Amino acid sequence: MLSYFLGNSELSRGGTRMEKSQIEFRNVSFRYHDDAPWVLKNVSFTIDADEWVAIIGHNGSGKSTIAKLMNGLLFPQEGEIYVSGQKVNPDTIWEIREQVGMVFQNPDNQFVGTTVRDDVAFGMENHGMSRELMVERISESLEAVGMEAYERQEPHRLSGGQKQRVAIASVLAVSPKYIILDEATAMLDPKGRKEIMQTIRDVQSKRNLALITITHDLQEVTQADRVIVMNQGKVWMQGSPREIFSRKEQLIEIGLDTPFVSKLADELLNAGLSLSREPLNHQELLEELWTLHSTK
Ligand SMILES: Nc1ncnc2c1ncn2[C@@H]1O[C@H](COP(=O)(O)OP(=O)(O)OP(=O)(O)O)[C@@H](O)[C@H]1O
Ligand SMILES: [Mg+2]
Repeated sequence: MLSYFLGNSELSRGGTRMEKSQIEFRNVSFRYHDDAPWVLKNVSFTIDADEWVAIIGHNGSGKSTIAKLMNGLLFPQEGEIYVSGQKVNPDTIWEIREQVGMVFQNPDNQFVGTTVRDDVAFGMENHGMSRELMVERISESLEAVGMEAYERQEPHRLSGGQKQRVAIASVLAVSPKYIILDEATAMLDPKGRKEIMQTIRDVQSKRNLALITITHDLQEVTQADRVIVMNQGKVWMQGSPREIFSRKEQLIEIGLDTPFVSKLADELLNAGLSLSREPLNHQELLEELWTLHSTK
């Protein structure tokens, strides 16, 4: 399983381009209509290949709009967006979409096939793959998300969580260079979410692949390499999860929560225990407590 995801396969893009593998937003401003308020205001950031970047922010802060701009579902009124050095515009969107795979919040709008298998195949047909490779990929990607038993099932009979797994399989099957998950695991239970994220991370870390996750699951955010925090259409802060979550009060001011472990650390601080760093997970918190204990 997962063999094709790993490393050197023929999937490393043919016709290798020499540009840097990254997505770049350069002073991007966007609004949905001429007289509507600006949804994004002068947004700039870069996401490199190999990176896992989480984008967080209050409801309506512009996260999904950013995702749609990344693969040319929308175009900015001001500024530019580059994917692997290529500017996103109506002439380049098909090439861009081969590189940028996206799974949204609501999987119902993403199904086109009459069976799960057809559905995963559909995305690949658009990318001109051989039949043999397609068959192999369908099985492998459905297996990766734990949906191999449902190949012949009609998509509309699946539960919300199963639909999301299939939507993720469809993106994995195409093997893009960048994967954007916009609340794509929101309908899964915590265990299912963890499993799928582990699969996606395995794929991401073993290939030259950038992962961009938009999520309200803060525990998941603590595992990302970098976090971009959006507030009212602007980039409020970028940094490592530790840098971001050590600013608890400011995060709360802009309508965000903090991870459970951060809250626990605060309680310990209030109780007079000073930790040497902001813990991001239970393991780190335990280590901090052991250190305190052994230096007493
Ligand atoms: N199709 C649309 N037409 C007009 N306005 C829109 C459209 N889609 C989004 N908006 C507005 O743009 C702003 C940003 O929306 P966006 O969906 O990008 O936010 P978000 O950060 O993804 O929010 P959430 O966390 O709720 O998913 C909001 O004010 C929203 O109402
Ligand atoms: Mg959204």
